[in-house]
Amino acid sequence: MRKTLLLLATVGAMGALSAPAAAQSVTYENSVKKIFAERCAACHISGAPSLAEFGKDQEGWKKKMKGPKLDTYQNVMMLVNGSDAGALMRRLDDGKNTKDGKPGNMYNFLGNNPAERAARLDTMKKWVGSWSLKRRKELSEAELAAITAPEK
Ligand code: HEC
Repeated sequence: MRKTLLLLATVGAMGALSAPAAAQSVTYENSVKKIFAERCAACHISGAPSLAEFGKDQEGWKKKMKGPKLDTYQNVMMLVNGSDAGALMRRLDDGKNTKDGKPGNMYNFLGNNPAERAARLDTMKKWVGSWSLKRRKELSEAELAAITAPEK
């Protein structure tokens, strides 16, 4: 009985401590940039093409193991709500929102184990605000506006 009470008190205290952190919103600067730098840089930063360059020769870049640049907020946003809207979400989804139930082909790069991948996907979802796998032309104005993805 006393043990249970102690445990409850501890959990309560931890909850109180983590509350301010949870209230802080996820931004590109405070969380997302780091994920790209740690998990995607080898193929999407060093020697990576711009989205336009990538579009001109996708097969060629694929052979070189390079995907479009994820180096600046502006470049990343092209794949979030810009010309290639939803690309980031389609590639990072864990399979819960895909038609065939398979994860996007960049999902695995999010972490070395399921827990790491789930945690980083959660960060990405919080940042994007409205997680949609739709393409640019399928997104309504309201759906586009619901994608928040703040820089700071
Ligand atoms: C080992 C290299 C490699 C790593 C690591 C990698 N990618 Fe990729 N990525 C590629 C290649 C190559 C392509 C292009 C081929 C394709 O479409 O699958 C690509 C394509 C993409 C696309 C689609 C771009 C478009 O416009 O069609 C997105 C989005 C993406 N990657 C996001 C990520 C994210 C986010 C990470 C890190 C969590 C990551 N990738 C890690 C190699 C990589």
